[in-house]
Amino acid sequence: MTQLKKGSEIELVVEGLTFGGRGLARINGFVIFIDRTLPGQRVLARITRKKSSYAQARVVEILQESPKAIAPRCLHFGICGGCLWQNLPYPDQLAVKRDLVWECLTHIGGLSEDLVLPTLASPQIYFYRNKMEFSFASRRWLLAEELSLDQLEKPRDFGLGLHVRGFYDRVLDIEECHLQSPMSMSILKQVRRFALTSGLPPYNTRDHTGFWRFLVVRDSKHTGKILVELITTAHRNGEIVVAQLADLLRQEIPEVSTLVHGISGKKAQVASADSQEVIFGPGYIEEHLDGFRFRISASAFFQTNSMAAAILLDQVADGCDLTGSEVVWDLYCGTGTMAIGLANAASKVVGFELVPEALADAQINAETNGVANCEFVLGDMKALLKDPPRLIENYPSPQVVVTDPPRAGMHPSVVKNLIALSPPRIVCVSCNPATLARDLKMLMQTYRLLRVQPVDMFPHTPHIEVVAVLERK
Ligand SMILES: C[S@@+](CC[C@H](N)C(=O)[O-])C[C@H]1O[C@@H](n2cnc3c(N)ncnc32)[C@H](O)[C@@H]1O
Repeated sequence: MTQLKKGSEIELVVEGLTFGGRGLARINGFVIFIDRTLPGQRVLARITRKKSSYAQARVVEILQESPKAIAPRCLHFGICGGCLWQNLPYPDQLAVKRDLVWECLTHIGGLSEDLVLPTLASPQIYFYRNKMEFSFASRRWLLAEELSLDQLEKPRDFGLGLHVRGFYDRVLDIEECHLQSPMSMSILKQVRRFALTSGLPPYNTRDHTGFWRFLVVRDSKHTGKILVELITTAHRNGEIVVAQLADLLRQEIPEVSTLVHGISGKKAQVASADSQEVIFGPGYIEEHLDGFRFRISASAFFQTNSMAAAILLDQVADGCDLTGSEVVWDLYCGTGTMAIGLANAASKVVGFELVPEALADAQINAETNGVANCEFVLGDMKALLKDPPRLIENYPSPQVVVTDPPRAGMHPSVVKNLIALSPPRIVCVSCNPATLARDLKMLMQTYRLLRVQPVDMFPHTPHIEVVAVLERK
């Protein structure tokens, strides 16, 4: 494909969707990935990157719409990085996700037998998220219609919203979002109005100056309580400004039950604070899941789709196949959702977690729910599992291990030591089929894969949660 050059325009027909969500087209077998396309679309596309084995392109014009395409609900669809597939009917999203999990398992995991079940749907497909992270930016994304205006209605050097797909320094000043809740949008708008007149500038990712960095909203789908965390840099007027905002939020949005102020000096654009102060309220909210109550602090992980998390928990419980006598280890246990959910069917559950706040929440959650047979251990999984015989001197040896690592998957040494620990059953939970496939490939040297169940926790995005059940050969 030498005639294909960066910048050249070409007509393409999209054949399918790939891991990460881009469309795939081929010219004489040469693969081209095109962002924001659907199978069946005929598009005029501009090549943005050319490599020896593939190219990337973006759509210049849709020449013929996909027979599958439906009208997206959100006014920001097409620019915002929050949703990618709002224009694809939900049953098709589920089918694509199943196929992409299978593709990862064959290509990366070397699996030959298709053990991937149909994707289980999220009970709600709009307003399903219980957590959103909005970014402040000193460069707002200008819409096409704004470019032709002499006078912009909104300043161009302030934005609060979601990232434009592919632009980590550009933020779209969103007016609506169908992922969390209408209340979350009201909070965003109040905070935006306040920040704009606060006299303090938004954070600039180029020179690392400015004050306002992230607005994190967590809302409990079952208790109606809302936790807001504002992440800023340190500033001599910061405390006064945040106190004024706290008064405003309390007055205008009483559903905000707690406000946390986090300070971050990190250069990386991650919504995680180096230090936190609770400005009002308890500093956490409670969410209900499968009949249990869970406390969630500002920096603790919690499954972001509360309704679908109940389905995920049921799948994990099915995979564990507990009879009441087993010891279960829950690796990467977060605030203890899985450990606590499994405890009634096990003799004991030991949870392992890196983040102290999450572990403290897990301990309180076990107490609140009257679960006495859970123990939680703080530490890095890699270090904790370094010496399996030593670990089982301190904690009873597991018959079942549940492992739910972050997107990067398990460290290879964790997988190696898990194999050495040799529990009869392992249930792998993952939000990244690629790293899951890599981990399963190692585990399948001594474990038989029984089934793989995708659960859709993230409608309208290419993300998917997967539960894989293994037993010792
Ligand atoms: C995907 S979450 C799973 C949480 C839990 N299973 C749940 O359902 O809520 C991954 C968790 O692993 C924790 N974590 C990340 N790296 C870790 C490490 N190296 N060792 C132990 N825990 C870690 C994170 O803090 C987070 O709570």
